[in-house]
Amino acid sequence: MVTLRSAWSVRRVVSTGVAQKRTLHAKTSPFPEKLAFAFDIDGVLKQGHHNVLPQAKRVLRLLSGADGRLPKPIPFLLITNGGGVPDEERRKALSEELGVELTENQLVQSHTPIKDYVDKYRENPVLIVGGKGESCRRVAESYGLKHAFIPQDIVAWKPSIWDRTELTEAERSFVRTEDFSNIPFSAALILHDTHDWGRDITLILDLLSSDKGIFGTRREGHNRADVKGDVELVFSNADVEWRSDWPIPRLGQGAFRLSLESVYKETTGLDLPYKQFGKPFKATYDFSELMLRRYLSSVGRDPKGPLNVYMVGDNPLSDIDGANRHGWSSILVRTGVFHDTHGEKPSHTPTIICDDVEKGVEWAIEQELRRGS
Ligand code: G3P
Ligand code: MG
Repeated sequence: MVTLRSAWSVRRVVSTGVAQKRTLHAKTSPFPEKLAFAFDIDGVLKQGHHNVLPQAKRVLRLLSGADGRLPKPIPFLLITNGGGVPDEERRKALSEELGVELTENQLVQSHTPIKDYVDKYRENPVLIVGGKGESCRRVAESYGLKHAFIPQDIVAWKPSIWDRTELTEAERSFVRTEDFSNIPFSAALILHDTHDWGRDITLILDLLSSDKGIFGTRREGHNRADVKGDVELVFSNADVEWRSDWPIPRLGQGAFRLSLESVYKETTGLDLPYKQFGKPFKATYDFSELMLRRYLSSVGRDPKGPLNVYMVGDNPLSDIDGANRHGWSSILVRTGVFHDTHGEKPSHTPTIICDDVEKGVEWAIEQELRRGS
């Protein structure tokens, strides 16, 4: 593992040609043909909803060719454990924020790889948990799910099911009130960090212990390991912590799952049954590789050609572990969850630790020029 504190700047090489043989814009210079990047978002490109790092904008302008310093673009995509809005909507918003036009194959959110998996619930009632308002219902419906209900719908039906929070006026405007005493749920899909842990833990416990997925029921032997339930529980993100614009990491969907696990164990004696997606898990990195190659094809590049992918992330548990397991190079940055101010060592060893995304990209380009790839 290499630790890079000072910046080798692609600006210096490209603009002054100090190392002429490595100048990217000179006609004769080699071009890193196999190089591609995968960028995490929170803690790498952004810190919080509204704070885009200036380095991120510079790097994406460089790689997309928008700043004219490269003879042609270097491919990249974004892979985030974030989500909570439909992919198309998030892609447009990120293009605006980051100042670069992202195409449909350049964004993988926590739930994007889940789309195919949940297709089996297309005709079935499912509980969609997480995100602001009914944004995750819109994600579910964008994936073809026809009976996507959210916790606010359930509370509107029977307020005493969770009487610690009142529905807001805004929530009353979008709830779908059905008589849920006749609706069998097949799954609870956690598509983003939830805003009401108490309510959502309560409703998920109800479904997991229910008879045939019907709220207000409890199946015989719900607390016996040999009596399986009727409702599948799926998480889209395992992050216990993530980097927002607060300088100390905040709790994420993985912390919610840990809370649910302990309450489920305490109330039933059983281990929580669930399926997990998101970084660092294989399904997300396999899906991301597929998207990257679809992107290459869309820009006229050989989708099957050899690639040297560098994943830039801030969380060793999701970004570095996942990239290492997938056989990509991994660049751990100091602008997010990970810090080594006091010599801390990351839980998973990256190829290199850099101060930020720009230094990481510069290092990777230099590596590829040296390899003559
Ligand atoms: O909720 C998002 C958070 O868990 C991490 O997002 O972009 O750092 O993978 P990201
Ligand atoms: Mg991150």
